[in-house]
Amino acid sequence: VSTISPLRVALVGYGYWGPNVARNVAQSEEADLAAVVDLSPSRRVVAASQFPKAKICESVAQLEFGAIDAVVIATPASSHVELAAPFLAAGVHVLIEKPLALSMKDAVKLVQLAKTNNCVLMVDHTYLFSDAVIMMAELVRSGQLGDLIHFDSTRVNLGIFQPDTSVIWDLAVHDVAILRYVTGLLPKTVSATTHSHRESKHPVVASMSLQFSEDFFAHIAVSWISPVKVRKLTLSGFNKTIVFDDVASDEKIRVYDSGVDSILMSEGRNALLRYRLGDVIAPRLRGVEALRREIDCFVSSIRSAIEPISSGADSLATIAVLQAAEKSALAGGEPVKVDYTI
Ligand SMILES: NC(=O)c1ccc[n+]([C@@H]2O[C@H](COP(=O)([O-])OP(=O)(O)OC[C@H]3O[C@@H](n4cnc5c(N)ncnc54)[C@H](O)[C@@H]3O)[C@@H](O)[C@H]2O)c1
Repeated sequence: VSTISPLRVALVGYGYWGPNVARNVAQSEEADLAAVVDLSPSRRVVAASQFPKAKICESVAQLEFGAIDAVVIATPASSHVELAAPFLAAGVHVLIEKPLALSMKDAVKLVQLAKTNNCVLMVDHTYLFSDAVIMMAELVRSGQLGDLIHFDSTRVNLGIFQPDTSVIWDLAVHDVAILRYVTGLLPKTVSATTHSHRESKHPVVASMSLQFSEDFFAHIAVSWISPVKVRKLTLSGFNKTIVFDDVASDEKIRVYDSGVDSILMSEGRNALLRYRLGDVIAPRLRGVEALRREIDCFVSSIRSAIEPISSGADSLATIAVLQAAEKSALAGGEPVKVDYTI
């Protein structure tokens, strides 16, 4: 039995995603959901009924910073910096929803504040804690895929038009984070084209190309206006290909031992390829909820002072890629060099 008292955690934002965080914090043996803050009276009523022991507040001003150890910020992206900064300045550890911020400048400000005040700053890149993405990373690291050739992701559905940002910051952030985590690689250039909708101030469809090296490139397609929900990632190597279908009810990960083996003959424009059509394997996934694993990681980072995998500092590279994509879209899709300088 642990003799350390549970961390006192406050949650700011009890909208769509906040309740998932609240449930996982409350279920953790190492943390207590001490308070829930939301501007909306109706959301506060729901929070109070779900978590009667938590203090329910209408603004962060009602929180006693000395009475909490950590906070989770689950409010819209444009409010992250303003809400998180005072907590970090007061020495409170912060788990912040993706994206960390909507610019490199704001993201760096939070990372530096965390460093100065010895706080853990972690970003909720939930996928990095999912069984499927952990499995993808293990498969890549085992060398089974061989040299990587191509990453392709489609993340589309009838989504909520975020009032404060585009589909790139809302959805493609997942793919960039997954891609970086699974491959350990950073793109050199990004090009993106986006499309708007008359009911949205920000782009609702985007198509991104990311060039890593001559041999490896990635495509990401995201949309809030697709009537069909697709969450499909394909990562191909010379030896094997992983397909992660997050909408599938089972066998979310499949590993194909298929591909192009060699060119048998090449004459002018005609090439005869030798294909390899091998087994398809669907590895068994562990069945742990990603957010549960993530809250455990947040707590253990605070206890051990070891940086979590999705730390604020690590997330800066993801922000740099998204910022480059936005710049490229504004320039009509021209390739933009990603600036990782802090
Ligand atoms: N990790 C994931 O997979 C995932 C999934 C969905 C959303 N998100 C992220 O979670 C964040 C919130 O998204 P959402 O879809 O839950 O939004 P939402 O609009 O449904 O909920 C946000 C809530 O925050 C409250 N709020 C806003 N400003 C506030 C403030 N200053 N103080 C207190 N409460 C405030 C609102 O009243 C609302 O209830 C976003 O950053 C989003 O990108 C992450």
